[in-house]
Amino acid sequence: MPARPVETTVARLSTYLSTQVRRLVLSRAGRSGIDLTQLDRVPDSLSWPLRRDGVAPGERLGQLREREPVAKLTSFLGMNVWVVTGQAEVREVLADTTSYSNDIRPFVGRSGSTTDGDIGGLGFTDPPEHTRLRKLLTPEFTMRRLERLRPRIGDIVAGQLDEMERRGASGEPVDLVPSFAFPVPFLVICDLLGLPDEDRDTFRQLGSARFDVTTGGTGVFGAVSGSRSFLLEATRRQRSEPGPGLIGQIIREHGDEINDFDLAGLADGVFTGGLETSASMLALGTAVLLDHRDDYRAVADSPEVVERTVEELLRFLSVVQIAFPRFPKRDLEVAGRLVRKGDVVICHLPGANRDGRLGEALDDFDAGRPAVPHLAFGHGFHRCVGAELARMELRAAFPALARRFPDLTVADERLDYREMSIVFGVQSLPVHLRAGAALR
Ligand code: HEM
Repeated sequence: MPARPVETTVARLSTYLSTQVRRLVLSRAGRSGIDLTQLDRVPDSLSWPLRRDGVAPGERLGQLREREPVAKLTSFLGMNVWVVTGQAEVREVLADTTSYSNDIRPFVGRSGSTTDGDIGGLGFTDPPEHTRLRKLLTPEFTMRRLERLRPRIGDIVAGQLDEMERRGASGEPVDLVPSFAFPVPFLVICDLLGLPDEDRDTFRQLGSARFDVTTGGTGVFGAVSGSRSFLLEATRRQRSEPGPGLIGQIIREHGDEINDFDLAGLADGVFTGGLETSASMLALGTAVLLDHRDDYRAVADSPEVVERTVEELLRFLSVVQIAFPRFPKRDLEVAGRLVRKGDVVICHLPGANRDGRLGEALDDFDAGRPAVPHLAFGHGFHRCVGAELARMELRAAFPALARRFPDLTVADERLDYREMSIVFGVQSLPVHLRAGAALR
């Protein structure tokens, strides 16, 4: 299905950051009723840190980090935008529970529920509301609860490998994104939420524009109200008949503490937080491993190798490029720089994960290196809720792929990386499943 113009515009303008900054500016300018997706591009002075050179952040970013790990990026219509690229400095900002707000609503003239329009989810919510909502979610992500998903994850991975076999039966290249990288996390999250089969088909269709990474969907922090209303409907239905997954469990255990809107908002946050991120890790991770064939082969056999390879991929790729923006609630010093109330602070995760103060040659992928502490899942009280689930998926998917298709190769070396997005990714990854397939 061709993307509708507005979606295309959003995809191009992309990203949460650009949209939100524009909203902020607009709200300051006191305008309303404007279709924000029709507005001009964000200036390069603001967006350049999101651009990559291949999978690596551009050289300019590394230079900036060396010079100024906390730097004023630009002043955009009266608002100072800071970018933090040093790992210690990013930790300092993200660990600070009192100096910043994540709440974007005051800037855009809204308030209230986390499901207010397209603004919402834990990432944009401050304590005490954040603490209350996150407490409802975290029990669903304990290792004990996640263990229940492990066999299902194995089945889902195996099912998608079969699907790849089917699609590649003719010997033609198979696109790994729609056949593997996207459906694995999609189906896992459907299981996690406890969406019945008939619901997930509808949801997949409804969400296709939003999540179809092959057509450059609106991105992880974007929003399409259709899928949210769908989750609201699913939540309402489960209120009378709680299902087996996260939605049903929260209703059973804490039903009187949360309304349908907030619960659907949490479910939606799990979807937006967990789908495109994991899909990008699977696609880009495969591309990196195929470029390092020894590592690709090695993940087939040893769980220990799998663990450290996945951590290195998470660090090296850092697919979530920036943490949720932090808005200083008062003037404060960050690593000697004066940041003022009214500014916005952007923590750059790939930058922080390649900080030379942590180790040697961090611009290279090296699965054998001693573990480097990384911030691919963020840090502090907004740190990714789904980190262990994501690890579980990646640790299941890469070895299964390497065992099933030991001779997998990339069919087209010119990969179509996303130009500028909060979640870095690749639009498609055509692969040959078997040795010699390219010659047939
Ligand atoms: C490899 C995959 C993933 C990566 C790299 C990733 C990364 C991140 C990052 C960087 C943050 C923001 C931290 C901050 O601003 O301080 C975040 C937040 C979040 N993630 Fe993930 N994520 C992944 C997978 C998942 C999965 C599988 C789920 C759920 C099923 C999930 C759910 C969330 C939620 C709900 C938040 C908001 C947490 C809060 O604000 O308290 N993520 N993630």
